[in-house]
Amino acid sequence: MTRMVLLLMALSLISILPLLTTALFHVKGSVYCDTCRAGFETNATFYIQGAKVGIECRDRKTMDEVFYMEGVTDSTGTYNIMVEKDHYDHICKCVLVSSPIKSCNTPDPGRNRSSIVLTHYKNGVLNHLHYANSMGYLRDEPLPQCHQLLKYYLSDSDI
Ligand SMILES: *[C@@H]1O[C@H](CO)[C@@H](O)[C@H](O)[C@H]1NC(C)=O
Ligand SMILES: *[C@@H]1O[C@H](CO)[C@@H](O)[C@H](O)[C@H]1NC(C)=O
Repeated sequence: MTRMVLLLMALSLISILPLLTTALFHVKGSVYCDTCRAGFETNATFYIQGAKVGIECRDRKTMDEVFYMEGVTDSTGTYNIMVEKDHYDHICKCVLVSSPIKSCNTPDPGRNRSSIVLTHYKNGVLNHLHYANSMGYLRDEPLPQCHQLLKYYLSDSDI
């Protein structure tokens, strides 16, 4: 009886081991609505819940798409996508897929993607959590207060 239990324990351990050694990445990032069409996040920016985001990886040589996976942002506009494979030979990026907000669903050409490196081999450090740069949509019409707000941001960057 005990032998049977030991055998079962050994078997379950064997089946768990590959999971522990397999690459597992958490890719985190956020999606915002640029209500001022500023091209960057302002204090009038809000984060979009329910935005669809994709992770796509392409072969370094052929540039063929070899991996694709989607996720959705939560109430804070943050997505958290799990990738279970090391993509050493691939060029990967997060891309915008869709926004649930009709008046804010034009991808900002300058903020529509974010490169990510999904490999452990790059720097020899086991880093499972990857933060992607925020990506954003442009609101169709800038909010009325944006004129004032952008003046503030631009004068600030002149200093
Ligand atoms: C954004 O910042 C500007 C400048 O500090 C301020 O006047 C404005 O009230 C702020 N707007 C919001 C929505 O917080
Ligand atoms: C992002 O925008 C640029 C410029 O419009 C475009 O060339 C590129 O294909 C877009 N990338 C994605 C992932 O949508």
